[in-house]
Amino acid sequence: MISAIVMAAGRGTRMNSKHAKTMHKILGKPIIEYTYDTLEKIGVKNKVFVVGYGKETIMQHLQDKVQYAIQEPLLGTAHAVMQAEQLKNNVGKTLIINGDCPLITEETYKLLLEKTTKENPLVVLTTVLEDAKSYGRIVRENDLLLKIVERKDCDEEELKIKEINAGIYCVDNELLWKYLPEVDNNNNQKEYYITDLVHIFRKHGHKVMPLLIEDNEELQGINSMSELASATRWMQMKINNYWMEKGVNIIDPERTYISKDTMIGCDTIIYPNVRIEGKSVIGEDNVITEGSYLENVNFGNNNTIKCCRITDSTLGNKITVGPNSHLRNGCMIEDESRIGNYVEMKNVKFGHNSKCAHLTYLGDTTVGENCNFGCGVVTVNYDGKNKFHTEIGNHVFIGSNVNLIAPVNIGDYTVLAAGSTITADVEEGDLAIARVRQENKPGYGFKYLNK
Ligand code: UD1
Ligand code: MG
Repeated sequence: MISAIVMAAGRGTRMNSKHAKTMHKILGKPIIEYTYDTLEKIGVKNKVFVVGYGKETIMQHLQDKVQYAIQEPLLGTAHAVMQAEQLKNNVGKTLIINGDCPLITEETYKLLLEKTTKENPLVVLTTVLEDAKSYGRIVRENDLLLKIVERKDCDEEELKIKEINAGIYCVDNELLWKYLPEVDNNNNQKEYYITDLVHIFRKHGHKVMPLLIEDNEELQGINSMSELASATRWMQMKINNYWMEKGVNIIDPERTYISKDTMIGCDTIIYPNVRIEGKSVIGEDNVITEGSYLENVNFGNNNTIKCCRITDSTLGNKITVGPNSHLRNGCMIEDESRIGNYVEMKNVKFGHNSKCAHLTYLGDTTVGENCNFGCGVVTVNYDGKNKFHTEIGNHVFIGSNVNLIAPVNIGDYTVLAAGSTITADVEEGDLAIARVRQENKPGYGFKYLNK
């Protein structure tokens, strides 16, 4: 059985932030969720997340998808592992993972698991860095690991070592729990270091193997805001390169931010300063221009999105939206429709070939096919206490500046005259006009203007 212990209880002091370190986001997704997703992908069923500082936000985020162990007080990484007692009697291999190392790939985890055997019951991921910063230094004895020395405990020679501990380990579970009690806090920081397992395993006659990974960026830990930014940059380029390989036209990959869980079809063109977050699916031949923000969207093909904000919404095909429109909360926009500038839609089903070109708010509304909205139409869905629905049929023509006071039903082939405030249902084929009749006063204009 394969288990995992993810250490995510630390304060993250070097972040200088109020929030739990692992809840900071990379391309819209918390650090901790990257590790969760990767463990899911490699099929680790038994996942224990050790939480402490900021535990509420982490637990709220991961819910009951994982098991938790609470670490209080925070006495170091070995002490964190000791809290995962639910794994104590398991057999098999256990991955021990720093919660602040989210970039590690499935392949690397698989290799680490493969290298951990009865002969090599403890394997440590390492890499070589030009600047070893605050990482623990790897002291080798040929192909084997002699010890890991934390930066603060290093002597001058050890400080020069460029091979570092990535903070990811795989260990035989029975031996782990047998030897954990031997870890002490006899070091500069008075902490229980998980890295002490190395010499303890050796003392008992076991081999400890370092597994050197060439790609040192994948192994980077996140301890400060600037490390968060460089991890983001690395992930951003990896994702953008992947989609460019698949035929997506990303005009400026350094200024395009696409979440790891987004899918994009070929020949979609993405202009600079576009951000796509959440679990989004974007088909082929779409054009998404500058400044657009998309989150949890599902688009078909051949749509044009001109600097818009679209969240939790679905678009069919051959639709244009924008410039500067805002679609949110479950909008479903059907094929060949047009949504123009400064239009906001919330929870709207907008039918095939309907058009809403200017300055309009639709909320909690269903619109049929082939409708046309003038400028400044509002569905008035909220009375200060409750929200109400507006139902608009097919082939409806709505003049400019019409307010529809919900709940209200508008039949097929109806016309709503410009400037009307519609408070009652309109039957199929009718014209509704609901505005005060105009009165002209001859000569009053001259008089008023003293002409
Ligand atoms: C740790 C390693 C170091 C390695 C580096 C790689 C130790 C002693 N040192 O140092 O050798 O080079 O990672 O990134 O392990 N945590 C807890 N409880 C605690 C302390 C920490 O859960 O009491 C968690 C943190 O939330 C974090 C992880 O363990 O996710 C690592 O802790 P951190 O303080 O970042 O250790 P480093 O100094 O980076
Ligand atoms: Mg760290």
